[in-house]
Amino acid sequence: MTTTVRTRVAIVGAGPAGLLLSHLLDRAGIDSVVIDQRSRDEIESTIRAGILEQGTVELLDDLGPHSRARTVGHRHDGIELRFEGEGHRIDFAETVGRAVWLYPQHEVLKDLVAARLAAGQDLRFGVTAEAIADAETDRPRVLARDAEGRPLQIEADFVVGSDGSRSVARAAVTGSSQGGYFREYPFAWFGILCEAPPSADELIYSNSPDGFALVSQRSDTVQRMYFQCDPDTDTAAFTEEQLWDELQKRVPGTTLKQGPIFQRDVLRFRSFVAHELRRGRVALAGDAAHTVPPTGAKGMNLAIADVRLLAEALRRSLLEGDERALDAYPEAASRRIWKAQHFSWWMTSLLHVTPDATDFDRRRQVGELRSVVESAHGRAALAEAYTGWPFPS
Ligand code: PHB
Repeated sequence: MTTTVRTRVAIVGAGPAGLLLSHLLDRAGIDSVVIDQRSRDEIESTIRAGILEQGTVELLDDLGPHSRARTVGHRHDGIELRFEGEGHRIDFAETVGRAVWLYPQHEVLKDLVAARLAAGQDLRFGVTAEAIADAETDRPRVLARDAEGRPLQIEADFVVGSDGSRSVARAAVTGSSQGGYFREYPFAWFGILCEAPPSADELIYSNSPDGFALVSQRSDTVQRMYFQCDPDTDTAAFTEEQLWDELQKRVPGTTLKQGPIFQRDVLRFRSFVAHELRRGRVALAGDAAHTVPPTGAKGMNLAIADVRLLAEALRRSLLEGDERALDAYPEAASRRIWKAQHFSWWMTSLLHVTPDATDFDRRRQVGELRSVVESAHGRAALAEAYTGWPFPS
């Protein structure tokens, strides 16, 4: 026996995109059902990047006290680019008058889940979408299974696939689960979380002959750091001492404050944009639509930028019968997506050392870094992208 649920918007995936979309739709008086195959605990504990653009924080302010980005997170007015052993600060306040907030994605998710549950959102964990049917009719359906394996179908006016990079919804839009522009990189990040005081007040993006490292923070007692590694690196392959050596040699000029490492992961680098973002009454948002490498921390910010457009487009379509914004969604979203793709690729190529880099490549890269930090325009362009391009009104 299949259980059928009826709603206006069925949202597949309770990540930042799906949850924020349900909030914005609710604000507009549009009901939705959100499903995710993961448990609430898994969603709230998966470690991801930690930088929020100013526009993202402003949008999260709409959650009221549920958003702790400004109270628990930390405002950062700049980053440091380090190369040839010297630090160069990119001052966001001075160049573009904007800022970013260091506030980890899983904390954003805790805020969003709490806000949605408090508002009475139909939010179902442990429910696995298997396919989207009838995308090109006005009654698309999500075919799913609940936590006990029983079939569930959600009938809606519109379906949004915000189910991450391994999206099931994507096939209904692009015709295949791959269906996109794709690029891989010959390196990854080895990430650690450790118990130690911060080694710096702001993030340090460091280029060194041994490869890239990023010194990030989480709190006064927990730090997040990464170093460039081979994509096939086994997280167990290093002792703690070796990890500190790898990190330290890539950040000359700063003595890293060490402490017990309690989490390690390898983040693969991929750039991906789905060939299509909408088909009929199904649209993609967030990682289901695009993936960026982590340099520059654009992933979640881009997901939230998609949803900003999509929520308004759905409001006009569902409440006013005006389809124009929905028709324009793929093109409007793509503009920012490709800017963020370029920026993430560029920050990556600016700072990492490819395995086959020649002496020419190394010297050219330092020349490029100097062109950025020694130019007011170069610093401003980086700051503008990093803090997030303003949204067209
Ligand atoms: C992080 O703190 O996890 C982080 C920060 C900046 C990035 C990527 C990741 O560019």
